[in-house]
Amino acid sequence: MSQLSTRHLLGIKDITTEDIQLIFETAQNFKEVLNRPIKKVPSLRDITIANIFFENSTRTRLSFELAEKRLSADVINFSSASSSVKKGETLIDTVNNILSMKVDMVVMRHSSPGSPHFLSKNIKANIINAGDGTHEHPTQALLDAFSIREKLGDVAGKKVAIIGDILHSRVALSNIFCLQKLGAEVMVCGPITLLPKHIASLGVKVEYDVQKALEWCDVANVLRIQLERQQIKYFPSLREYSLYFGVNKKMLDRLDKEIVIMHPGPINRGVELNSDVADSEHSIILNQVENGVAIRMAVLYLLAGVK
Ligand code: CP
Repeated sequence: MSQLSTRHLLGIKDITTEDIQLIFETAQNFKEVLNRPIKKVPSLRDITIANIFFENSTRTRLSFELAEKRLSADVINFSSASSSVKKGETLIDTVNNILSMKVDMVVMRHSSPGSPHFLSKNIKANIINAGDGTHEHPTQALLDAFSIREKLGDVAGKKVAIIGDILHSRVALSNIFCLQKLGAEVMVCGPITLLPKHIASLGVKVEYDVQKALEWCDVANVLRIQLERQQIKYFPSLREYSLYFGVNKKMLDRLDKEIVIMHPGPINRGVELNSDVADSEHSIILNQVENGVAIRMAVLYLLAGVK
């Protein structure tokens, strides 16, 4: 197979295991390119890509932009904070105005779940979801699984615990779909108030004790407490969260095995993850960021071939 089964990347739920494997093979090739002295290839010359971000981002936005530039695409960036959205312009009007400038692909982050799906039904360009509210963040899940494969050889058969604010996390849902498609066992762990009520129906194990989750897993993917999405109090204080659900070195020292620690970023240091773990030899957090560029190059390159 040399082509994806879809012309948009809206979520991991919608793509096949073969799509994921093709993205990984392509990303592996691009990773080699990124380690050469000349890191640029002409693959997307004459393709124009708009990065449309209605929510804050550091990693996703920068790595999409770098991936696009490494592929020789023309790039335009839109940030809602400095745009006419502030004057009341709608999503579809904003995007149609950008598309009338002859844009081929749109990378979009938006706080409303389903917004890239809505867009894909209304415009001709290829759409890539760079995070839609609490729903999906497909390229994050792809780079996470790619990083596990790189570190442990394979994803199939591995035990992955996703720890933290599962309720508000698009990374959790995309990771669950991606890891399961690749044959991993998945556990979610956190305070009962931050676990969706019917999460077990997705086929994941549910654990409330972080030490037990760490004992079970090969990989712990620790997620950020998303205070900006929490309209009510889900736990008494950050100090108490850190005390009961934060991951620290003492907890890892109690394990009689190797463990891989991941975090999608940005980290709340001292809350969900202590610096003595985030910066330890167990952590592959910066490898995740590095792999993000190769994964996003692969997604852009492959989608550009599906019209
Ligand atoms: N992991 C992630 O999506 O980070 P940003 O919000 O900085 O893009």
